Formats: sequence, C-alpha cells, structure tokens
Amino acid sequence: MSTPKKLFIKTYGCQMNVYDSERMAEALGGQGYVETTSADEADMILLNTCHIREKAAEKTYSELGRLKALKKDKPDLKIGVAGCVAQAEGAEIMRRQPAVDLVVGPQSYHRLPEMEAKTRTGATALDTDFPEEDKFEKLASRPKAKRGPSAFLTVQEGCDKFCAFCVVPYTRGAEVSRPVSRILDEARDLVERGVREITLLGQNVNAYHGAGPDGSDYTLAKLIWDLDRVDGLERIRFTTSHPNDMTDDLIEAHGTCAKLMPYLHLPVQSGSDRILKRMNRSHTADSYLRLIERIRAARPDIVMSGDFIVGFPEETEADFQATLDLVEEVNYGYAYSFKYSTRPGTPAAERAQVDVAEADDRLQRLQALITQQQHAIQNDMVGRTVHVLFEKPGRLAGQMGGKSEYLHAVHVDNANVEIGQIAPVRITSASTNSLAGVLV
Ligand code: SAH
Ligand code: SF4
Ligand code: F3S
Repeated sequence: MSTPKKLFIKTYGCQMNVYDSERMAEALGGQGYVETTSADEADMILLNTCHIREKAAEKTYSELGRLKALKKDKPDLKIGVAGCVAQAEGAEIMRRQPAVDLVVGPQSYHRLPEMEAKTRTGATALDTDFPEEDKFEKLASRPKAKRGPSAFLTVQEGCDKFCAFCVVPYTRGAEVSRPVSRILDEARDLVERGVREITLLGQNVNAYHGAGPDGSDYTLAKLIWDLDRVDGLERIRFTTSHPNDMTDDLIEAHGTCAKLMPYLHLPVQSGSDRILKRMNRSHTADSYLRLIERIRAARPDIVMSGDFIVGFPEETEADFQATLDLVEEVNYGYAYSFKYSTRPGTPAAERAQVDVAEADDRLQRLQALITQQQHAIQNDMVGRTVHVLFEKPGRLAGQMGGKSEYLHAVHVDNANVEIGQIAPVRITSASTNSLAGVLV
C-alpha cells in the first residue's frame, strides 16, 4: 500500500465551518488522504475561511502568504481555499495569491475529490456555483470511527433575511433545509460512534422547514422531538436562531423536552429600533424583550446569549444607550459583541460610517457590561448542582472537563468518570472562564 497523502485543514469562522471541515476531510479521505495537524507535513492544505468581518477575511491572505513558502521545499504541495471568502472572492483569490491551486465555495464541497484530482495534473480548480444538487447527499458518508461526545450537525444552511450589514446571504446562498430522514440517520450514526450531544446548526436554524418522512414540512421543534426519541442521544442544542423564527412550538419545547438544553443564542444586534430598522432586522427591541419573557416563562432557568454590533452606520450615542438598556434588561449569560465592519456589496457599506474611535469606545463599554453579567451568572452557579457531560481530561492530572446544561465549562479534580458520561456536579467556585466542582 502506498503511504497516504496528508491533509491539513485550518478552520476559521462559525461552527458551520467546523462541521464542513469534517465533511471535507471525509470527502478527501476517499482520495487517500489522512488528516494531519501539521501544515509542514501536508500534501494538501485547505483553509476553510470566514468573510463576516474584514479582519476575518484578511486572515486568509496573511495565512496564504505564510503557507506559500512551504511550496519551495515541496513543489507537489497543493493549497486550497474553501468557505465564505472562497465564495465571495472566487478567482480573485488566485490573482492575489498565485500559490493557490483550488478555490471551492461552501455549496460545492461534494465536488472536492474531482477538483483535487484536477490540481494533481498541474491545473487550478475553481468552483463557486450554487448547484442544484444537495452537497450533503453527495458527500461521502462518514467513516465509522469513534468520536468525541459532542458533535455538530448542519440541518439548515443559507439565509434569506438580508440584514444590511451581513455577507452570509451572499456567501451561503438561499435558505435550504435538509430532509428529516437524513438528519435522523446522521444523528443515529453519530450516537453509534459515541456522540451524546448534538448541536443542530443553521445560519437561521429555527427557520428550519425540512421535508418530513410523510412529505410534510417540519418545524425545528418537530425535528427536535424526533431526535428526542433517538436512544443514546442525551442532549440537543441548536444555533443560531433569529428572533422572528422563534415559533410557539419551539418555545414550548424548551419547557417540555428534557433533552433540549436550557441555553439559547438569540442575536438581537442592537437595542435601538431606529438602528434595527436600518439593519433590516424586522423586529423591535420591545418585541425581542417580550419574546424572551415568553421563553423564560417556558424555561425559567434558561441562559440567554446574544450578538451585538456597535458602530453600525448612523448609530448615535442615544442609539447605543438603548443597546446598553436592552442588555441590562435581558441579563445575558454570554454575549458576543463586534465593531461594525464594512462589507463590500452590502447595503450598509454605502452609508455614513461612525467614527472609529467612537465605535471602539462603545465596544469597550458594551463588553464591560456583558462581562459583568456573565460573571454574575457564573458566580450564581456556585453551590448549585449542574449536570456535566464530560468531554476531555482537564489541564491537571486526574482532572476531567466538560459542559454543564447551561454550556458553562466545568472541571472536576480526581474525577472518576468516563468521557461521554453525564454526572451531577456541585459547583464550588467560579473563575473567569470556567467553573470548578465536585461529583455529587
Ligand atoms: N445567522 C446568525 C449569525 C450571523 S454572523 C444571525 O443571524 O444572528 C454572526 C454575527 O456576526 C452576527 O450575529 C453579527 O453580530 C456579526 N456580524 C455580521 N456581520 C457583521 C459586520 N458586517 N460587522 C460586524 N459584525 C457582524
Ligand atoms: Fe446575516 Fe441577518 Fe442572515 Fe443572520 S439573519 S445570517 S445576521 S443576514
Ligand atoms: Fe463566517 Fe461564513 Fe460562518 S462568513 S461566520 S464562515 S457563514
């Protein structure tokens, strides 16, 4: 047998890219590739890229600049760019960085094997189509290798919402939901391989409307109830949701489905109605707050998470103050805040930009408030018993680490537990990024 070729994948951006990278590795596994964690020994390097903010996109080019040097010692090395920068910039990438052999957009990953073969003839390969066929159906099925207890599973992809700042509708295309039966098959397969927790992924995961076994349209809640019946699957999560797609059945499931974890990532972006309108968000600050009230009525201990953009064009100090007010009212367990980044081709790029120093200052103030809330919620866990899904050994000998139902990282010393086990843990202390506890 010939020695297998080595594949190095570097993943940027969101969880969907993490999932896609796993699937690309599997697809190229069929071409005789095995994964390596070292770029130096790779025969093929793939960057799975993110275009969401300028900094993210520019990382692609600085990384490519470093990697091209590897070709000097290894002329057969192939370098590919996948993901959202590939989709957004296409052939431009090869013009800017001629060391690139292959550019593949997120909807064309099932074509990777033939594209790889093409690069082996010395040609370049480019595919940024939005093909009719479903890439997930055509991607090689997973090898039956054992894997960690927590896995991602993409159920929906793309976005039809067109927020004025966002590239995702252009890089991922229109909203598409995978059929229920395929998702259930994949979930059962993951469980057989050791998975206990599945996080359902979609750019607008709660807009899921895949075809059910009887041909009827499913909601995300209906899909969750089907997954609830998969033996051996203990935990279900989903991300990212849009406030307008939080349907009644989904809110109800948070109160009644024991496998659905009490954590919800529900981005709002701003607390100012004027800005929300200019963002094309089609919800108000008040409708968002009322929605959270209903979610908390269904599941009082749910931990909320969100995303915010500060310095969106035309944002005034008063608009920003409204965002701080909303954060005060919600009380987030986690929240991610970003300085607005101008993205070519999006409507907001044409508008009056906020002064950079002003935006930096707002970002700092918002992050200070969020950090304060996050720590308070973590500190509140001390003395409580949570249930931890153990995922890996901790940093110290004998330590084991995992996640609570609220998604807090928890570690336990001298823990007599197996990876993949869920066990009750009484929290004894909270530090900046994790909780410590003892097995009950
Ligand atoms: N589909 C999800 C996530 C989209 S991207 C949603 O609708 O919420 C993740 C986050 O990146 C967004 O929620 C937003 O807060 C941020 N983001 C998107 N475009 C941005 C831009 N141009 N500048 C700064 N942050 C941005
Ligand atoms: Fe982007 Fe808005 Fe779609 Fe989220 S809902 S992916 S922020 S356009
Ligand atoms: Fe980035 Fe594309 Fe995800 S732009 S956030 S990798 S959908």
